[in-house]
Amino acid sequence: MDFSVKTGVPADQRTACAILPVFDERLTGAARELDAASGGLIRRLVRSGAASSKLGSTLLVPTPSGGAAERWLLVGCGKAAEFDAKKLCRALAAAVGALKDKGVREAISYVAWERPSGVNAYYAARLAVETVRSALYRFDEMKSDAENGNAKSRKRLARVGLAVADSADVADARRGIAHGTAIANGMDLARSLGNRPPNVCTPSHLAETAEALAAEHDRLSVEVLSERQLEKLGMGALLSVARGAEQPPRLIVLRYNGGPKAEKPIALCGKGITFDTGGISLKPPAKMDEMKFDMCGAAGVLGTMAAIAEIGPAKNIVAIVPSAENMPSGRATRPGDIVKSLSGKTIEILNTDAEGRLILCDAITYAKQRFEPRYLIDVATLTGACVVALGHLHTGLFSNDDALAAALLDASCRSLDSAWRLPVDEEYGESLKSNFADFANAGSRDGGASVAAAFLAKFVESTPWAHLDIAGVAWRSDSQKGATGRPVPLLVDFVLNLDAA
Ligand code: BES
Ligand code: MN
Ligand code: ZN
Repeated sequence: MDFSVKTGVPADQRTACAILPVFDERLTGAARELDAASGGLIRRLVRSGAASSKLGSTLLVPTPSGGAAERWLLVGCGKAAEFDAKKLCRALAAAVGALKDKGVREAISYVAWERPSGVNAYYAARLAVETVRSALYRFDEMKSDAENGNAKSRKRLARVGLAVADSADVADARRGIAHGTAIANGMDLARSLGNRPPNVCTPSHLAETAEALAAEHDRLSVEVLSERQLEKLGMGALLSVARGAEQPPRLIVLRYNGGPKAEKPIALCGKGITFDTGGISLKPPAKMDEMKFDMCGAAGVLGTMAAIAEIGPAKNIVAIVPSAENMPSGRATRPGDIVKSLSGKTIEILNTDAEGRLILCDAITYAKQRFEPRYLIDVATLTGACVVALGHLHTGLFSNDDALAAALLDASCRSLDSAWRLPVDEEYGESLKSNFADFANAGSRDGGASVAAAFLAKFVESTPWAHLDIAGVAWRSDSQKGATGRPVPLLVDFVLNLDAA
């Protein structure tokens, strides 16, 4: 997929397809210029009702002979005064959808020719690339008719020009394309890891993926800790989750060194449960297949590292991915078992389905002890309660540091990868009391997302920390079932803007 910035007069721009915005039944910008050049054809299409300004509506039309564009794709963009970054992405996604399977290999988008309000040229281009790439993403590596797949891909959109009216915007737009491409690559990686079946995407597979990233990028280095090494370190919480499984657990440490050696890193911990049956506290069968997505925290963190390595900011980032399969068996951890975590704190496991916090608490302690991170951010499909609270729109954000929370919320707004802050008062941890150990791994169901966050907070202690519960946003269950690649855009944006203000 190739993106470029286009300047110049729309009427002279040769293309297989000009994607033109239609705003509240009035023509503006590039569409107006092309309309004039075609004797009012676009105006007639809009007036007749064939083309509409309704956000996301599309009409593909052949152009009158002699025009520089072979086709126009008229795409509804709503009211001009309300056009913003989000609508730009909705319109572009609809445009790409309309071109799918039409054999159009190349197009130029004029949707952001005149920049929407509140978006600079960099973000307009970056978000456009992310949107187009997301709309074109396919997961067909497990389908047998590869031949057919190849034939299809030959017909797919391969080149997109992003037209800008103001040539002063070209440099920013180019940077937006470069960053958008890196983010899209990271999202594709996260999505494919998520979509891969759990018999393929095992803890070892995640480790091999991290090793491949490190081999590809100079500034990435990787260590993979085996079950024996985890035993030696004393990661009893992480090990207890893996006990029932045949697949051995892994702890992946992937480092990006872009900043001064002495500078403390940002630590990103991603939950890597490659399949969550619930263990002995077995989940009900309905939709259990979706628990292959329980490694989307890990996938998001690895995708973020891939994007960061491609962009190359002057920062130090370390990804720590605890990974295991949560299975029932004769060797599996029982409800009532007490384990000792790396921190030395003992945990009574009351519910083996609350396994994410167990692998994360050891990863958090490891990150703290080894890296003394400046910020520690964990990413996890942690609770069903977070899905109940926020649905599939926002990532749940929990933090003990207002400045960090604010920076993440800003990044979530700019990247259109939304997060919403939820509370993590110490009191939420009171239901985790145990008569037999330091505390239990499960407590009150009420406020369950905050209870889980409060469990993690006990291990974080005073490190500036944020927890992203992505249970509702990491995958879709509808006709477009599959991993989304979130929160790669949010995390990359956070890293790129760190210390900027
Ligand atoms: N992976 C699940 C959380 C989850 C559930 C994500 C549904 C997405 C959709 C997690 O391991 C889990 O099972 N959490 C339990 C915790 C409970 C036992 C305290 C939950 O949310 O029910
Ligand atoms: Mn679980
Ligand atoms: Zn889980």
